[in-house]
Amino acid sequence: MAKKLQVVSNTWAIRFSFQSLVALLVAVLVIGAIYLTGESEQLLEEEDDHEVTKQESGKNESSSSRCEFFSGKWVFDNNSYPLYKEQDCTFMSDQLACHKFGRKDLSYQNWRWQPHHCDLPRFNATALLERLRNKRLVFVGDSLNRGQWVSMVCLVETSIPNKELKSMHTNGSLITFRAVEYNATVEFYWAPLLVDSNSDDPVNHRLPDRIVRAQAIEKHAKYWTDANILVFNSYLWWRRPKMKVLWGSFESPDGIYKEIEMLRSYEMAIKTWSDWLEFHVNHNKTQLFFVSMSPTHERGEEWGRSVDQNCYNETDPILKEGYWGSGSDPDMMHIVEDAIDGLKMRGLNVQMINITQLSEYRKEGHPSIYRKQWEPLTEEQQSNPSSYADCIHWCLPGVPDVWNELLYAYIFGYDRLKTTVEL
Ligand SMILES: *[C@@H]1O[C@H](CO)[C@@H](O)[C@H](O)[C@H]1NC(C)=O
Ligand SMILES: *[C@@H]1O[C@H](CO)[C@@H](O)[C@H](O)[C@H]1NC(C)=O
Ligand SMILES: *[C@@H]1O[C@H](CO)[C@@H](O)[C@H](O)[C@H]1NC(C)=O
Ligand SMILES: *[C@@H]1O[C@H](CO)[C@@H](O)[C@H](O)[C@H]1NC(C)=O
Ligand SMILES: *[C@@H]1O[C@H](CO)[C@@H](O)[C@H](O)[C@H]1NC(C)=O
Ligand SMILES: *[C@@H]1O[C@H](CO)[C@@H](O)[C@H](O)[C@H]1NC(C)=O
Ligand SMILES: *[C@@H]1O[C@H](CO)[C@@H](O)[C@H](O)[C@H]1NC(C)=O
Ligand SMILES: *[C@@H]1O[C@H](CO)[C@@H](O)[C@H](O)[C@H]1NC(C)=O
Repeated sequence: MAKKLQVVSNTWAIRFSFQSLVALLVAVLVIGAIYLTGESEQLLEEEDDHEVTKQESGKNESSSSRCEFFSGKWVFDNNSYPLYKEQDCTFMSDQLACHKFGRKDLSYQNWRWQPHHCDLPRFNATALLERLRNKRLVFVGDSLNRGQWVSMVCLVETSIPNKELKSMHTNGSLITFRAVEYNATVEFYWAPLLVDSNSDDPVNHRLPDRIVRAQAIEKHAKYWTDANILVFNSYLWWRRPKMKVLWGSFESPDGIYKEIEMLRSYEMAIKTWSDWLEFHVNHNKTQLFFVSMSPTHERGEEWGRSVDQNCYNETDPILKEGYWGSGSDPDMMHIVEDAIDGLKMRGLNVQMINITQLSEYRKEGHPSIYRKQWEPLTEEQQSNPSSYADCIHWCLPGVPDVWNELLYAYIFGYDRLKTTVEL
């Protein structure tokens, strides 16, 4: 695979100099947006910049309390966080660089996730790179997953000061970060609905009429089936009441199109995905993860603001334990849970990285208005900043770094240690 990656025609392979970084940022700005409106859908302005874009054991409180990585609380900790500096990450995305784009309150960078009854292991970039030696870690999914990938790249690449020893290149839907000394890659593959769809172009996917081939995945899967660690997600692109499903191919004139209730179509796609994993992934070699829904913060009234407010102007997390807003759909999460349970019965382990609840608390963690605007703002927008605030993606350094700390804990099997090791 390394050979293959080297011979494929890169749109760019970079030995970083400042000029090449600037050139790259300019060259690869791409605008894409999808709009989701209505009760079950949020305004999602999804701008695709393909610019290239972060102890030790379980502590028990009582003999019966078991560590749950996903339930806990946020603790302000400006000694240990952020795990890297925004300006130090060579591959930071302008969509996520909130400080660079004018955000003044920076405490969103300083929160540590404290699970109940245990601590997360400390993220050690060198240990992860060692683990990934001669291996591929591939994220597959939408722009939220891409944000987590950027976070992961920042977390590991800041430990490699020598610019000669790291590179980034894109090839179609696949973007590859390479740690040269380790022959390790951390990759992102664009597949916002996991299965085939008319939104698969990594650049031009801004289509009003979304069509999904709920039973076809191999077009994507062939690029990542042999990876050593796979991290999937797919959620926001499904948030509309119905989906148009196609039986047959996009090219063939006799394809059958049918509008189907969204949950049903999601279930079909998740089944296609899980069947693929069951029959095509080498169970011995591959670690599998699914990152649960990333919540949005569009409705201020849900956390005690007025109806017209969203994440704009928010500077603090929600402290009420168990807070859950309408931006997360439990039914969709259950579909994934059921598929994962089914795979487990058939001998394949997929670990859910359950980020939904912990991210629900972080209404202040989104870029809001502090990100690159790909189109000039209208006067009307300027007079009402909430109207163009991004309450979907996440600032970096920030919340996705914690998702990666959780992923890290599972990659190293800390979840298995947690009941046996005591502090
Ligand atoms: C931790 O669990 C052990 C039993 O597994 C118990 O003896 C010990 O008291 C517990 N420690 C604390 C701090 O609760
Ligand atoms: C995710 O974690 C939250 C908080 O612990 C929990 O309430 C929820 O049931 C979990 N969901 C899944 C699918 O594991
Ligand atoms: C950390 O936060 C505390 C309380 O806000 C503040 O007094 C201190 O200066 C901060 N330290 C750093 C290193 O930012
Ligand atoms: C990080 O991991 C490396 C390689 O396993 C190890 O040598 C180093 O001591 C670790 N650093 C910390 C701070 O634990
Ligand atoms: C480099 O890593 C790839 C996996 O990404 C592996 O197939 C290849 O054998 C590795 N090269 C060497 C020289 O080990
Ligand atoms: C990468 O480029 C090669 C051609 O150089 C092509 O065959 C391959 O399909 C591309 N991969 C992706 C993921 O687009
Ligand atoms: C996986 O490991 C088992 C037991 O070690 C072995 O029998 C099986 O052939 C392996 N499967 C593959 C696909 O390598
Ligand atoms: C934003 O916060 C500032 C300072 O707290 C306040 O003056 C302003 O009215 C707020 N704007 C909105 C739209 O909530």
